[in-house]
Amino acid sequence: MDKLTQPTPDAVLFDAYGTLFDVYSVALAAEQMWPGHGDALALLWRDKQIDYTRLCSMSQQYRPFWELTRAGLRFAALKLGLPLDRAGEDRLMNEYRHLSAFPENREVLQALAARGVRAGILSNGDPEMLAVAIKSAGFQDLIAPVLSAHAVQRFKTDAAVYQLGPRALGLPAKKILFVSSNGWDAIGATWFGYTTLWVNRAGGPIEQLDTAPTRTASSLRAVLDFFPQP
Ligand code: LAC
Repeated sequence: MDKLTQPTPDAVLFDAYGTLFDVYSVALAAEQMWPGHGDALALLWRDKQIDYTRLCSMSQQYRPFWELTRAGLRFAALKLGLPLDRAGEDRLMNEYRHLSAFPENREVLQALAARGVRAGILSNGDPEMLAVAIKSAGFQDLIAPVLSAHAVQRFKTDAAVYQLGPRALGLPAKKILFVSSNGWDAIGATWFGYTTLWVNRAGGPIEQLDTAPTRTASSLRAVLDFFPQP
């Protein structure tokens, strides 16, 4: 992208799960519980969790992301025929509370802070689980504001959720860089009007919906390209 068309956002909002926090890191614990099935469990768990957000949001049956995460885990275990007792469920849910952060994230957040750029979260996660994840990763002093879908009782990609960003930051969506590793979230945010970065860590295909994020990269470091050092 040349300089003339380069978008110049004033702030950043990050998606949380999959973008700042590695949701597939739970696969390791699942692999210990069910050797040979950890990856399949983690993948289906994540898919079902997101599936449930859409089902509940579209039918006005909101319940917190934490509950839908547990429901997704139960479904995935049943579907794969993996025995899941209460202790196993609690163990995996506890892993989910303390997900690993991707390795480059801290330096990116620190560089944004050094450049005076506001960097927050806009997530489906409910406030309690987001607070624990941010604290576990040691990001408390690097992220503000933390915006949760819980405030509007809807989930992304409902516009009511994306609208939380411009409202909280006092900026038009175009002046906010929304960053997600979830291709569908990057597209939803683009439709809403944000400047967007899709961090395609897995090298997956782009959503086939005739819409492209403003930029695509493979690491969160690409965020810094939008905010050159003064
Ligand atoms: C979130 C989910 C989509 O954090 O990963 O909003």
